[in-house]
Amino acid sequence: MTKVAVIGSGNVGATTVQRLAELNIADIVMVDIVEGLPQGKAMDIVQAAPIMGYDVDVIGTNDYANINDSDIVVVTAGIARKPGMSRDDLLATNIKITQQVCANIEKYAPGSIIMTVTNPLDIITYAALRCTQFDRNRVMGMSGLLDSSRFASFIAKEMNCSVRDVNAMVLGGHGDAMVPLPEYSTVSGIALSKLMDEETIEKIVGRTINAGAHIVSHLKEGSAFYAPSAAIAAMVESILKDTKRIFPASVFLNGEYGMHDICLGVPVKLGRKGVEEIIELELNIREAEALQRSASAVREGIAKIR
Ligand code: LAC
Repeated sequence: MTKVAVIGSGNVGATTVQRLAELNIADIVMVDIVEGLPQGKAMDIVQAAPIMGYDVDVIGTNDYANINDSDIVVVTAGIARKPGMSRDDLLATNIKITQQVCANIEKYAPGSIIMTVTNPLDIITYAALRCTQFDRNRVMGMSGLLDSSRFASFIAKEMNCSVRDVNAMVLGGHGDAMVPLPEYSTVSGIALSKLMDEETIEKIVGRTINAGAHIVSHLKEGSAFYAPSAAIAAMVESILKDTKRIFPASVFLNGEYGMHDICLGVPVKLGRKGVEEIIELELNIREAEALQRSASAVREGIAKIR
């Protein structure tokens, strides 16, 4: 049986486990250092199985040894933002947690694919890659699919149309300098620029960039988890089923987009080998500059962890 480990049993981790269980595609192990939390939540998810009809194993544990032989390890462990905090404010604490988690992944699941979710996302993804020294196809960060989903939901609201017909693309770091790409966003194949004016597009782009912080400001404690877990589950599914879906994700760039030694959100193909292809979009000057600005912000964080 295929196996997925989820590190962290907070809102993002536990909701991810629920979504993965409901997909019925893999046994799941949820790990947390807090005693009782992963066990209790896993039991609850198991007890929903007869109603929901999934028959995968779900266990909660404090022991990393249980992640052995996992095909994918999803890392959600870390602290989340409070109102007024940027994702970068989390760096010092979350980098230490990431190092510990990665040491355990290396020890118990050296053949796995790592999907990081902890913020600041691109810097944590870079750290995971450096700590484990896994090949770059086996380390990715979930961010662009979440941002694209938010962008798509706002486009559908504006158009008063089904979200199912919207395809949106967001590149760059998962931060205030992220780069929503209206030119690569469509409704049923129709370019966004043919459907709404520049001002409206700008408004939606702004909402996309601020969407995570907007949710934090409402929640007060913690950040979003329904849309993030949906994005994680979709990426995990594409990898395990070898569907080869194309989603934006944070990956290590080695010359793509003219960048080196950085993790940044770009469109990738996800299959059984992990990141099977990086797709390079042709960017106009404005977009290319925006991507450079986003990369600079990520580089500052990478410099800090060095
Ligand atoms: C967000 C946080 C979790 O975008 O990064 O909601």
